[in-house]
Amino acid sequence: MFIDSHAHIQINQFQHDQEEVLKRANQAEVTTILIVGFDLETSISAIALSEKHDNLFATVGLHPHNAKDLTPDTLKIFHQLIKHEKVIAFGEIGLDYYRNLSPKDVQIDAFEKQLDIAEDNNLPIIIHNRDAYMDILPILEARRGKVTGVLHCFTGDVELMRRSLQIGFHIGIGGIVTFPNAKKMQTVAKVVPLEKLLIETDCPWLTPQFQRGKRNEPAYVVAVAKKIAELRKTCTQAIAEITTKNFNALFDIKKRNPNY
Ligand code: NI
Repeated sequence: MFIDSHAHIQINQFQHDQEEVLKRANQAEVTTILIVGFDLETSISAIALSEKHDNLFATVGLHPHNAKDLTPDTLKIFHQLIKHEKVIAFGEIGLDYYRNLSPKDVQIDAFEKQLDIAEDNNLPIIIHNRDAYMDILPILEARRGKVTGVLHCFTGDVELMRRSLQIGFHIGIGGIVTFPNAKKMQTVAKVVPLEKLLIETDCPWLTPQFQRGKRNEPAYVVAVAKKIAELRKTCTQAIAEITTKNFNALFDIKKRNPNY
């Protein structure tokens, strides 16, 4: 059993074969998929898709690229959406200083406002970071003990990993770890405490090496688990089991969805 803890199968790239993609995930024993929203539209469509299958869950949030679009109305709608039984986390939210599609101060403001919602409602957070650890970590450190979650698609070094673990966050590892030149990522994958590890695809992006250049999909999370197992000299099954356990505990799946 594998869990893809970060997928965007609600978007256009999957509109023609969503059900086949889900079938392939099932055949690959990817039993659970977390569909991550990044703006209002994709948050709503994540929920809609999660309603169709027991093993799909959803998140809502505004990505830092779209931070400039955050209005009081958007926040109000997010407040409504998180009441849905399939919504198990807030995100992806964070800071992106690589593309800077919204000004830094606007990104920080949107991040803080959404962290407030997550904190007030006891929802774990999915963090997006690109070249912004210097600002993200202090913001999270200021809320230590009040928020929890995962640094999705972690690309920092071991030192940043340690700081993230100190504030109680999980480390999400995706397809990049399978790239031959991703040495820093592979070092992190070797040393991250197993009880803090999650695996993900971030599909349709960041396709693992064996399909690089093509569209990514949840079934390929198995390649991520396999690579981590190889790096840690353990079996893929062990990585599958521990990351499934971690996911269920972090997102409190049983409590949030007793039917699951
Ligand atoms: Ni993502």
